[in-house]
Amino acid sequence: TRVLSVTSECVPLVKTGGLADVAGALPGALVEHGVEMRTLLPGYRPVLAARPDAPVVFDIPDLFGGPASIRSARLGRTVLYILDAPHLFDRDGSLYLGPDGYDWPDNPQRFAALSLAAAMVAAYGIEDWFPEILHLHDWQAGFTPVYLRELGAAERVKTLMTIHNIAFQGCSPGDTVGALGLPPQGFTQSGFEYWGQVSALKAGIVGATKVSTVSPTYAQELMTPEFGMGMEGVLAGRAADFVGILNGIDEEVWSPPYRAPAAKKKLKAALREELHLPESDGPLCVVVSRLTGQKGFDLLLEALPALIEQGGQLALLGSGDPWFEGAFRDAALTHPGVSVRIGYDEEFARRLIEAGDAILLPSRFEPCGLTQLYALRYGTLPLVSLTGGLADTVINANAAALARGVATGLQFHPTTALALRQALTRLCTLYRDPALWAKMARNAMAQPVGWSASAAAYAALFAEMTAVDDAG
Ligand code: ADP
Ligand code: GLC
Repeated sequence: TRVLSVTSECVPLVKTGGLADVAGALPGALVEHGVEMRTLLPGYRPVLAARPDAPVVFDIPDLFGGPASIRSARLGRTVLYILDAPHLFDRDGSLYLGPDGYDWPDNPQRFAALSLAAAMVAAYGIEDWFPEILHLHDWQAGFTPVYLRELGAAERVKTLMTIHNIAFQGCSPGDTVGALGLPPQGFTQSGFEYWGQVSALKAGIVGATKVSTVSPTYAQELMTPEFGMGMEGVLAGRAADFVGILNGIDEEVWSPPYRAPAAKKKLKAALREELHLPESDGPLCVVVSRLTGQKGFDLLLEALPALIEQGGQLALLGSGDPWFEGAFRDAALTHPGVSVRIGYDEEFARRLIEAGDAILLPSRFEPCGLTQLYALRYGTLPLVSLTGGLADTVINANAAALARGVATGLQFHPTTALALRQALTRLCTLYRDPALWAKMARNAMAQPVGWSASAAAYAALFAEMTAVDDAG
């Protein structure tokens, strides 16, 4: 099966979150399932700088106000197509935000351009390659099914819309329909109209052949008002075509330098010294995260004294919302057992996860979450809220799981500071039983977190999507 993955970020070239990891890893994981997945990515500055000699293989004379082309390069074991459109992507700042920290005002055009380019590749082929399926990631690729229909290729080419985070819906004012080259008759409740605005995500949800998200629990949650953020009805309307497939992680990149969790001892001692954390017989908890409302760290700030009182410590790496950054900096000043580094640092992130005893994820919602998967692999026990992918990937140390000897972490519910405080207490209690803790750490390390099961699930879904035609 030939699949074009349409994404706004992709490791190792550009990343703001887990989407980049998924887009970067999935093509490689699908090779052995007979799926040839190529990737279409905007030609941001760092992307073109990393592939300076990529030849032009597709011309688009005018793409939303300027000439554009598609360049061909390598990405690991597969092909990368770079949408080179200097008027849209060749600029300073980050992928979605200008230097002022606000969304680029032309974001609707920038990612409509990505979606239109994807549809053109599907309709006309590229380097004699014709994708059978377009795999669309988040709102940035959401208009693709609309453009595909406009180009008359919607019968032949199937689409999978994957939702990584419903909080981002790609909305623009209702009067941008024309500017985005969208058909006016699509601006209805059953189309891409959304409370008077245009929503790229909704266009993808209603228009795609199939819809998926990144965990089975999040798929269920998304169809409820509590989690759907207004899209619950639209998604419930697609329930028959809507599935959750868990993310995996790249086990070669995230591979512990030890076989047994006992080896952490030395790493932990070194980390404590480096971070000026005192010796302690309580657990060293780590956090590696974007600091935004989604991640629930206000609850952690509230519950933190409970951890500290019981001898626990916190080493946090994160960046994002200035309020959170400041609050954690203050917490580090107040508590000698708390170390905070504000920033983005992959090497340090790995060392925290490697040396920590536990990782904390009190997320209010979490479509999948990758860091708990990294942590499991290193025998670093996840303490997580019972939501989304966190519910699907951690085996809570409740009485039944402990009796069977299968627990890999802790879950708390509801997502409140009180429940978190109680979970931190449970964590400290478990930690005081070294044999039990070691058993859980071994369980964690043995839990499969790679791509194999999920790559097979995607391959099966792609096969199902193309089989509809073969049969009829
Ligand atoms: P989200 O995409 O919602 O941010 P995920 O858990 O899916 O959450 O992915 C986050 C990714 O970003 C992980 O690979 C994580 O290690 C990485 N990450 C987040 N914050 C930092 C940071 N401050 N330094 C290094 N890596 C980070
Ligand atoms: C989003 C979600 C995160 C998920 C990632 C990759 O950023 O917040 O939970 O792991 O996408 O699918």
